[in-house]
Amino acid sequence: MIILFIGPPGAGKGTQAAQLAQKISVPHIATGDILRDAVKESSTLGLKAQGFMERGALVPDNEIIDLIKKRIIRSDCNNGFILDGFPRTLAQAQALGDMINQTDKQVDKVVNLEVPDSILIERLSGRRVCRQCRANYHVMNAPSKANGRCDKCSGELYQRNDDQVEVIKERLKVYKDQTVPLLDFYRTQKKLLDIRGESSITRTFRSLVETIGLA
Ligand code: AP5
Repeated sequence: MIILFIGPPGAGKGTQAAQLAQKISVPHIATGDILRDAVKESSTLGLKAQGFMERGALVPDNEIIDLIKKRIIRSDCNNGFILDGFPRTLAQAQALGDMINQTDKQVDKVVNLEVPDSILIERLSGRRVCRQCRANYHVMNAPSKANGRCDKCSGELYQRNDDQVEVIKERLKVYKDQTVPLLDFYRTQKKLLDIRGESSITRTFRSLVETIGLA
């Protein structure tokens, strides 16, 4: 099964995609995570991507398309995969369609997670992430027990550079300008599933699996 997650920053794409990937036993491929690893390693891709990410802009299509091409041909994707944060532009969606058309597979479902802007800003500006295991916390809603340390692995918690309010606003603008047009692209193909993502993580997941037909 091939499932795509689209939604504004902070909608819960990563949270829901990770749980769904576990449920259906396919890899969860998050372009944001791959790019952050590349930045950490100061790889060629990381050095190119860093400036775009820090100001809330999209990394150029050719870099991202190349990254996905190389990732989805790996053998762990033979039975499908979940893409979280890709595609984000029409050019990326068309390139993905071309890649998948060369196989006997298809994009099965496209999840559109909908959450109001005010909730997104609150979620992202309070988010803290573990440097080691990537677990997510929130300073008010889900704080770690030990101050500044991860409850799961004791790793250091940090605030993403792009989780500053001004950058969050830019990311939301970029989402509306460049990614929202994809919703019609996939709606026309009858693949789009609109899921309300403002309730709890558990309730949203329940609604997601029911809508996909996996309950
Ligand atoms: P990326 O890392 O993908 O950032 P994003 O899309 O802005 O998404 P987030 O990770 O911020 O949010 P999310 O929707 O995954 O929510 P999450 O589950 O984490 O991309 C970063 C950057 O990389 C981009 O800005 C761009 O520069 C570049 N990039 C990436 N892909 C690209 C592409 N295809 N093309 C070009 N450039 C690309 O949840 C957020 C928080 O809310 C967490 O703290 C979580 O615990 C909490 N939360 C989640 N669900 C709930 C809930 N139901 N109730 C309460 N809290 C919740």
